[in-house]
Amino acid sequence: MATFLVTGGAGFIGSHLVEAALAEGHRVLVLDDLSSGSIENLSAVRTHPALEFLPESVTSKSILAEFVDRADVVFHLAATVGVFNIIESPVATIENNIGGTEAVLRMAAKKKKKVILTSTSEVYGKSHRIPFREDGDLVFGATSKSRWSYACSKVIDEFLALAYWREFGVPTVIVRLFNTIGPRQIGRYGMVVPRFLNQALAGQDLTVYGSGQQSRCFTYVSDVVRWLLLLSANDRAVGEILNLGNPEEITITGLARKIIEITGSSAGIEFIPYERAYELGFEDMERRVPDIEKIVACTSYSPQVTLDAALRHTRDWCLERQKQYAIA
Ligand SMILES: NC(=O)c1ccc[n+]([C@@H]2O[C@H](COP(=O)([O-])OP(=O)(O)OC[C@H]3O[C@@H](n4cnc5c(N)ncnc54)[C@H](O)[C@@H]3O)[C@@H](O)[C@H]2O)c1
Repeated sequence: MATFLVTGGAGFIGSHLVEAALAEGHRVLVLDDLSSGSIENLSAVRTHPALEFLPESVTSKSILAEFVDRADVVFHLAATVGVFNIIESPVATIENNIGGTEAVLRMAAKKKKKVILTSTSEVYGKSHRIPFREDGDLVFGATSKSRWSYACSKVIDEFLALAYWREFGVPTVIVRLFNTIGPRQIGRYGMVVPRFLNQALAGQDLTVYGSGQQSRCFTYVSDVVRWLLLLSANDRAVGEILNLGNPEEITITGLARKIIEITGSSAGIEFIPYERAYELGFEDMERRVPDIEKIVACTSYSPQVTLDAALRHTRDWCLERQKQYAIA
């Protein structure tokens, strides 16, 4: 059994990874500054004897040094995420995402530890080469449009991780996550599925930004976690970039309709122009579909959870949470 360090382990994906790793018998160290994550996300495992949690930033040098030293593998998930965060706080986003990754890689280099870095499908930007392959070109808009700063911060993270591998032999693996969904994801920062579910369950119209014809591919969090754990013990992936996603594609209007149906809501759909939802001149990508040949070949694992099932599990979690809040 291994010892894992999960940065951002109190976040949405991180907390599921922590739970799954503990269930497999691993020891897990978590560093999370709780900027967007929450200790509540770890409530099911908070007292687990193999879990250690510190509410600290990855930029706290001495703590990071101690945790990296004790870990066999570092999963680096800590980042500022969500379109609203990025548009409202571009400085914090850029500095946190690049500075945090730099700190983790530098420490991993000292201790020669493997790092699995979570990048994003956003790095494909406005590319039209569907499905997106890892070796495809990345196409961004102008730097005056702050939404691209998130993607660019993650691209720098990728360059840095590859450079640490090539120059210093630090075993790094880069995964590009496509919209991941599931329990504990919050809608506050602009994530579409929790936002739609909350609106539908409250009987409010679902607010679709733009024409609604833009499409996305949603991956259930348990599939992402399974891939991450498989990669931790897989040396073939070192120095590689891998898409992690479910290629099942749906338009945002189609998603809104599906959510209205599975919640039995009487809500309608309201279309809001991008400039009102985000900022003037906001640019979106029309489609974002992963080519997953590489990750499937590398891990012999393909997504198990359909979009329908993923939405139903997430709906059930939202309902359960509403019940808990009502009792409290
Ligand atoms: N959810 C998705 O659809 C998606 C898609 C693409 C990529 N990703 C990537 O996956 C990772 C996890 O995303 P998530 O959706 O779980 O988001 P999240 O916001 O729930 O998780 C990020 C966690 O990192 C923590 N954090 C931020 N800065 C930190 C710092 N300096 N030190 C310590 N902790 C810090 C936050 O408190 C939070 O708990 C991120 O790197 C994100 O870029 C997510």
